[in-house]
Amino acid sequence: MSNWISICAVEDIPVLGSRRVARRQGPQVALFRTADDQVHALLDRCPHKAGPLSQGIVFGNAVACPLHNWTIALDSGCAREPDEGRTPVFRVRIVDGQVQLDGDELATLGTDLPLAQAGPCTRVAC
Ligand code: FES
Repeated sequence: MSNWISICAVEDIPVLGSRRVARRQGPQVALFRTADDQVHALLDRCPHKAGPLSQGIVFGNAVACPLHNWTIALDSGCAREPDEGRTPVFRVRIVDGQVQLDGDELATLGTDLPLAQAGPCTRVAC
């Protein structure tokens, strides 16, 4: 059984852009809006080295990670070949123009993963 939670209006997400959803624990969730108003939700953490996907460039049905330019499919969370890896995908539904996420997934999915890296430097090296 799903526990749908209204997050924002579709119009609150820029076309070919993103918004982040904070959670009590774990990495944030990134909402992406495509040119044809589809909305997708991914863990805001690239499968390569944890770049913040919400700061990437959305094109077509994908986002380019801002750190090393891997392309991540918005519907599956999978890295485009030849790269490998997958970031967790959250279920999304739109009701009366409102973006809704499953509250159970928000509370559990990917919460055990480290936070996204904010830039190319690590805390230790910079
Ligand atoms: S961290 Fe995303 S491409 Fe490297």
